[in-house]
Amino acid sequence: GRVAVFMGGDSAEREVSLKSGKAVLSALQSAGVDAFGVDVRGCLLKTVEDPDFDRVFIALHGRGGEDGTIQAILAQAGIPYTGSEMLASALAMDKLRTKYVFEGCGLPTPRFRAMASVDEAKSIIRDLRAPLSVKPAHEGSSIGIRKVNTEAELVEAYNEAAAMDDLVLVEEWIEGPEFTVSLLQDRALPAIGLSTDHVFYDYDAKYLADDTNYRIPCGLAPDDEVRLQQLALDAFRVVGCRTWGRVDIMQDADGQFWLLEVNTVPGMTDHSLVPMAARAAGISFEELVVRILRDTLE
Ligand code: DAL
Ligand code: MG
Repeated sequence: GRVAVFMGGDSAEREVSLKSGKAVLSALQSAGVDAFGVDVRGCLLKTVEDPDFDRVFIALHGRGGEDGTIQAILAQAGIPYTGSEMLASALAMDKLRTKYVFEGCGLPTPRFRAMASVDEAKSIIRDLRAPLSVKPAHEGSSIGIRKVNTEAELVEAYNEAAAMDDLVLVEEWIEGPEFTVSLLQDRALPAIGLSTDHVFYDYDAKYLADDTNYRIPCGLAPDDEVRLQQLALDAFRVVGCRTWGRVDIMQDADGQFWLLEVNTVPGMTDHSLVPMAARAAGISFEELVVRILRDTLE
């Protein structure tokens, strides 16, 4: 049948999604799949009422696309789609509540607080150990994330994050190295180690800089990489994800791993990590997208 690749959307990650979507679309087409692109803007209800496609490859990042809303609409319309279903998508898009689930399941995640107003800055600085990471709870691609040391910096970063999200998460900063583990058909691909001259692996380091360093093999001892992959799989499972995703994990100076978050529609651009991990496992980009799509046929 015909495949619609949903891309674009209205989130802050629109530009990233357009790149992901175009890459996915051309790979599907060169694999001989009858596919076309849809730039999703505004309400989708009309599109799914009388669709000219049989299934959907979701290449939308961020709110309105990766967060369960599209998944719910497609599910109700009876149209199969790639990746996680509504609940896991919505949960993973909320970094704060994902951490409640990690904690509840005994999985390691940096200590944290939700921050609802600047009045809480004093108690947060007292209760958590600086430096801290301040994040809008529902953004991706590191948008709005700031590293802070003092109460004044926390207030400033809070205001910035609160301008883009009604929920702000503050967590203890782990210096790293940072790792990311890609999951495909419920198995972990080789981990990637990340390093950058930026303060952390931020938006520019992700999509613009040429000096971001990706290590694959990731540099860990084999046993440690297996532990890292297992932790990523555990995170993927407790959130309830399906088919594919990517889990971001920090390692502290004692070698302990700490879960940051789960991405249910990870980037698929030429700078992106899942395609890189797949390649290291001998899976071409074309095969990767075909495998993700294939799960919608079952
Ligand atoms: N949120 C971006 C697209 C990623 O996780 O790759
Ligand atoms: Mg993310």
